Amino acid sequence: MLYIGVDLGTSAVKLLLMDGEGKIHKIVSKEYPIFFPQPGWSEQRPEDWFSQTMEGIKELIAEVDKDQVAGISFGGQMHGLVILDNEDKVIRPALLWNDGRTYEECDYLNNEIGKEKLSEYTANISFTGFTAPKILWVKNKEPENFARISKIMLPKDYIAYKLTGVHCTDLSDASGMLLLDVKNRRWSQEMCEICGIGEEMLPKLFESYECVGTVKEEIAKELGIPATVKVAAGAGDNAAAAVGTGTVGEGMCNISLGTSGTIFISSKKFGVDKFNALHAFAHADGYYHLMGCMLSAASCNKWWMEDIIGTDAYAKEQKDIVKLGENHVYFLPYLMGERSPHNNPNARGTFIGMTMDTTRADMTQAVLEGVTFALRDSLEVARSLGIHLERTKICGGGAKSPLWKKMIANILNLKVDVIESEEGPALGGAMLAAVACGEYESVEAAAKKIVKIVDTVYPEEELVAKYEARYQQFKEIYPACKPLFEIIK
Ligand code: XUL
Repeated sequence: MLYIGVDLGTSAVKLLLMDGEGKIHKIVSKEYPIFFPQPGWSEQRPEDWFSQTMEGIKELIAEVDKDQVAGISFGGQMHGLVILDNEDKVIRPALLWNDGRTYEECDYLNNEIGKEKLSEYTANISFTGFTAPKILWVKNKEPENFARISKIMLPKDYIAYKLTGVHCTDLSDASGMLLLDVKNRRWSQEMCEICGIGEEMLPKLFESYECVGTVKEEIAKELGIPATVKVAAGAGDNAAAAVGTGTVGEGMCNISLGTSGTIFISSKKFGVDKFNALHAFAHADGYYHLMGCMLSAASCNKWWMEDIIGTDAYAKEQKDIVKLGENHVYFLPYLMGERSPHNNPNARGTFIGMTMDTTRADMTQAVLEGVTFALRDSLEVARSLGIHLERTKICGGGAKSPLWKKMIANILNLKVDVIESEEGPALGGAMLAAVACGEYESVEAAAKKIVKIVDTVYPEEELVAKYEARYQQFKEIYPACKPLFEIIK
């Protein structure tokens, strides 16, 4: 049988066709626009997501026996607010995960309701990208839109709703709404009251690998697939990526270098970061995870390469980088503000340390290193909680660079396991569909069979020591710049 994984990303939807053995048959990608109506705001049209997903599925299965398609599932960009009226019309463009407009609402939640209460209700505190402050923003700033809300959902759930007619979400993605009692895997009544919404507006909760329904008759007809095709709830893109890299069960780690950068640590037990710098979320394997999320990761490199120095020859630029561990230029990667661990929407990208002999290669190196040092900030929070990691998997666009993987291994002092397919969320989505269709008895069983490690990048003692000294300097830059970020905003 065949399974479709849909990775509903920020710049494009990526679709992947996998068979029951885990073999990938085809990958298709379809782009859609992103809008930045004001600095720090970021929006997309859910209708674009759906039309491009449908076009993508058609292309994906054009040459196969469509009767073999058994299941569809998702990894979706997290936290985005999609609101529908009582005729199922999208009320306004979705506010995305990297939208920083809700700082007043976050301030209200974290300081007036209080971090302790939020953490008690949801295991997390408020960050501008989370969904609950977005609901409050619509309530405060667009009351006429708020009054029309009939259904609230996350980006990938809009696709599931259009395919099946079932208003559903999964626990991993729901964790990032700040509306879920993560520990007990149910909606928080207290948070619904705080946001002024009824629980009936929220989607029905499923585990990621559970079937929410089958495709609607008209969808089956349009795609040419059987009406028995099952749709599984799917997961937030990071949890789906973790499934796709085999980061399931106890104490495993995955790093995703996409538009955002995340460090994801799986656990069979529920646990909260007492500093609330890392998110404590449900995982797609039925258990839990901790996660640090930086808002701009591979996107910093894309910005530097394409917008600033004007090239798309990524590998060629990286060839000139030779002074690993010796760069005196530093880069703070906060082009969209920062989430983990600083929680500061006003933080900004910063270069520091240039001299007359600084080269273009030094600057490119600083960008890659700056993102990696910032990931280390989140790793240090995990280490301070007593979490001991020796190795990590890696996925996302940035994972294609051998140089970046070497930096990750040496700056984080972790062995980096390279897996056969770096298609994290799309592969994870297809695997969740396979579990929902009974091809595998659990997510862990699917990961064991499908995910293969093909190489490992080892940290080198001398380079680790050099980078340790550099990281100690990097750590000083953000606190020194922080007061300036308040002035230049
Ligand atoms: C995670 C987060 C991002 C998005 C990217 O908390 O906000 O990783 O999911 O799509």
